[in-house]
Amino acid sequence: MSQLVAVEEFQKLYGRDPEVIAVAPGRINLIGEHTDYNEGFVFPAAIDKHVFLAASYGPEGLSTLKSMEMGDCPGFEATTVKPGEVHGWGAYGGGMAWAMREAGLGEFPNVHAVVSGDVPIGSGVSSSAALELAFGVMWLQLTGRELPMKELALIAQKCENKFVGVNSGIMDQMASAMGKAGFAMFLDTRSLDIQYAKVPDELSVVICDTKTPRALTTSAYNERRSQCEQACRDLGIKALRDADMSMLEAARSKMDPVVYKRARHVITENSRCVMFKQALEEGDLKQIGVLMRGSHESLRDDYEVSSRELDQMAAAAWDAPGCVGARMTGAGFGGACVALVMTADLSAFTEHVQTVYREKAGLHGDITPCQLSDGAHAIVATQTPS
Ligand code: GLA
Repeated sequence: MSQLVAVEEFQKLYGRDPEVIAVAPGRINLIGEHTDYNEGFVFPAAIDKHVFLAASYGPEGLSTLKSMEMGDCPGFEATTVKPGEVHGWGAYGGGMAWAMREAGLGEFPNVHAVVSGDVPIGSGVSSSAALELAFGVMWLQLTGRELPMKELALIAQKCENKFVGVNSGIMDQMASAMGKAGFAMFLDTRSLDIQYAKVPDELSVVICDTKTPRALTTSAYNERRSQCEQACRDLGIKALRDADMSMLEAARSKMDPVVYKRARHVITENSRCVMFKQALEEGDLKQIGVLMRGSHESLRDDYEVSSRELDQMAAAAWDAPGCVGARMTGAGFGGACVALVMTADLSAFTEHVQTVYREKAGLHGDITPCQLSDGAHAIVATQTPS
């Protein structure tokens, strides 16, 4: 649907077909939250919510971008664009042209581009990484350059860190770049090794959107990252990936109590992520539930990135029929929970969660089962809808 919308708008604006269509998915994260910038483990999956981008060379002036969901953004000169020159959602486009140039891939030309998608914005399922990857794939395809998708993910992270200004880890970009239909990915963010893990057919991955926009995400996110760096200095290590609970307890008396709590979350979350992988392989549904709940509670109490509505949504899911496990997903401060639900119980789950969430939060939550998808790619012209 969004693909058609983007293409038709492109045809309307420019009177011709786009030369390239790029598509990139959003992601959920099953477990392993705020561990990626600590060189730890994460367990995301690309989902069937996508950003589509229809584009052609636009040599006659600046790059012009239009989003069907976010509107126009000011034009920019793709061949020379630098951080600070593009604001709003256009920073994902300008930032990718800049980051790919910085990576030594040469200059990228100006384009006309129309974006349309169904990745919910501000829900914690990474519409931003999807936009970055869509722009990256588009420019590579348009100029006939090739690049391994892991490298494009690293470039997209640089765009996010240095151009957009969020000091994020690599999880979202890797998920959007490297997703595989039907599989989640256990990712070691230090080595970037991926082990794809099948989610059994009897389980559905469900996004439980609180419909509360995320607040103060950038400043609070960057603050959490600095606290983790402080913890590393206190422990005398390079990354919290290398710490365990006994090291942390030994250093506790000389640590700021808040920094101690932040580090405790990261250390325990890394272990939960590893244990989750084993539980998924063994089909141990009870253990999956315990680990997801433990993750949510640690994010709520030690990392303090949950919100009242995320807690209400998670609690509604924990008690719902067919729920195997549920927790907040993504950076937090609002957005969505992810739940693993017995497929046979999906309607009863949805009804229970929506009723309880409405009672507690006074809001209508969106409960959406999703399919696990392939990563970002270009769509060949023969697939272009007429
Ligand atoms: C955001 C960031 C990711 C990751 C998560 C929290 O989505 O972009 O790198 O840190 O938050 O796990």
